[in-house]
Amino acid sequence: MLTSAEIRKRFLEFFAKRGHAVLTSAPLVTSEEKGVTDSTLFNTAGMQPLVPYLLGKKHPAGTRLVDIQKCIRTVDLADVGDKTHATFFEMMGNWSLGDYFKKEAIGWSYEFLTSTSDVVGDRGLGLNPNRLYVTVFEGDENALRDDDAAEIWKDIFARNGVEGADVSTLNKDEAGRVFYLPASKNWWEAGDNGPCGPDTEMYYDIANTYGGKPITHEQFIHADMDDVREVVEVWNDVFMQYEKKDGKIVGKLVKPSVDTGAGLERLTMTLENADNIYDTDLFRDIIKYAATMASKTRNQRIIADHMRAASFLIAEGVVPSNTDRGYILRRLIRRAVINTDLRQFSDKNILDIIGCIVETYGVTYPEIRDRYPSIINTLKTEIAKFSSALDSGTKEFEKIAKQVSSGSGSNTGTISGTEAFKLFSSYGLPIDFIIDLAKEFMVTVDVGSFNNEFRKHQALSRSGAEQKFKGGLADTSDMTVRYHTATHLLHQALHDIFGDAVMQKGSNINPERLRFDFAHGSKMTDDEKKKIEEIVNKKIAEALPMNMKEMTLDEALKTGARHSFDEKYGDKISVYFVGNTIDSAYSKEFCGGPHVKNTNELAGPEGKWKFKILKEEAVSAGVRRIKAVLA
Ligand code: ALA
Repeated sequence: MLTSAEIRKRFLEFFAKRGHAVLTSAPLVTSEEKGVTDSTLFNTAGMQPLVPYLLGKKHPAGTRLVDIQKCIRTVDLADVGDKTHATFFEMMGNWSLGDYFKKEAIGWSYEFLTSTSDVVGDRGLGLNPNRLYVTVFEGDENALRDDDAAEIWKDIFARNGVEGADVSTLNKDEAGRVFYLPASKNWWEAGDNGPCGPDTEMYYDIANTYGGKPITHEQFIHADMDDVREVVEVWNDVFMQYEKKDGKIVGKLVKPSVDTGAGLERLTMTLENADNIYDTDLFRDIIKYAATMASKTRNQRIIADHMRAASFLIAEGVVPSNTDRGYILRRLIRRAVINTDLRQFSDKNILDIIGCIVETYGVTYPEIRDRYPSIINTLKTEIAKFSSALDSGTKEFEKIAKQVSSGSGSNTGTISGTEAFKLFSSYGLPIDFIIDLAKEFMVTVDVGSFNNEFRKHQALSRSGAEQKFKGGLADTSDMTVRYHTATHLLHQALHDIFGDAVMQKGSNINPERLRFDFAHGSKMTDDEKKKIEEIVNKKIAEALPMNMKEMTLDEALKTGARHSFDEKYGDKISVYFVGNTIDSAYSKEFCGGPHVKNTNELAGPEGKWKFKILKEEAVSAGVRRIKAVLA
């Protein structure tokens, strides 16, 4: 069984033997001087620190590079703790800066994944070629279908006697192993500016569900769904051919280049026969310490993940604060504390878990060992501050909860937005935590007016430094509000296309995306997704006002506004509607807000963003989930 350390070593040796200069990882913290085009706070992929070189600048180490880059992604914080998501991860990548292209890149990916050679530099991972499935770009108005990549793959599979190599890649009903997919899956770019292009992704059947046999397009899509996860994406080869400016392709790169990314956590999971990244040598010991603080598996994983990410951030000099990178660090630490059973971390807990993280990572990343005292001190101070705030905040919460449940009048049992905001701002209680506490105390929280308070506060406290990160963290509350309105437009658009059987089943918004669950029996076709996007984008372009009217429950029901049948409403209902009058409104919903004033705000500060569906999948029988962004 290959360990993560052995995988790292073999990867670097393999590409070094093929003429690649070995680079050490760039820091997690991005540096704008190096030409990172989008103002992201952290490197989220191996390509980010190399952007200027992909665009043509000469790299001092040559035209073939290989590295293992530390990355942090906080987009799907809510998914952390499932089988494959983590905030911190290592991305192994090989690079051609105008040197080799598709044939070599794909050939070497295949060779490294499957090689059983013992010769140093040719050693690979020994994966079974029959359990590999690959995807290529199906083409759109920006770029042609990637038949080259498809042909290269078919040739490789055929030469290696892998069944299904000769199947037409265009026939979706016939079982094969090379699948064409749209840009939402097989096109790569980091933001609106910079190099981009089609990619080919490699997937491995981790539990041998399909017995090494070819599968149909439909089977592949099913196997790749988050909650099925029979096949796991282990590598992505991006063929950088174009440059984007402000979201539009403005031309071809002077020299086509290659950017590849293989997730170390996922490859380790594959090679250690685990079904999730936490059950690998990268996490196993850290999880043991997390398990002394939390009884539920998911909570243990969150603690392990967040402490690992926090350690790497502190090692790079990030300090907990209320803005930018410091805020992400603070959030990770607080979430780790809240996920323990007793909502506390003793000093011993900190020493144990950080000691273990240093043990696991210190050799590969010496900064983690060098900055050990700083990591311990920062965590002790931050956690102590948070714990005492958590303590007094929880007491304050109990007091408020008692008052509201014994009160009288229409607000009985509801903690107001102002009170909730005070718990958040003075005691640092995260809103999710306040909502959880409220459930324990059988009261509710007016989240809508909490969000309003939050926005007001953000507007007041926004500093110059925050403004710098356009569309980034400083914008957090604005983005959430935009996604809230986008959710209403999406909800109505789904009714337009599928009719009124489409019931809302859930919704979750963070500053990076919206998620919407709805009742629908079958997978959405590409055409249906496109239609939905067109409708929402049309409503954004029409610059419709978002209005709100308060009324009694009876009046609200008469307007025909959408509402959930499972939810209990008070005497006064706020109906939010998109349009000039409630009768002519495009969408009407019972809702606590907040929302934008005009749908054109969804197009972003420069009016260029579009609503895009990133993913559509099943959550359970008859319920579909959409993840969408404004970008
Ligand atoms: N940049 C590519 C990715 O992150 C390799 O998937």
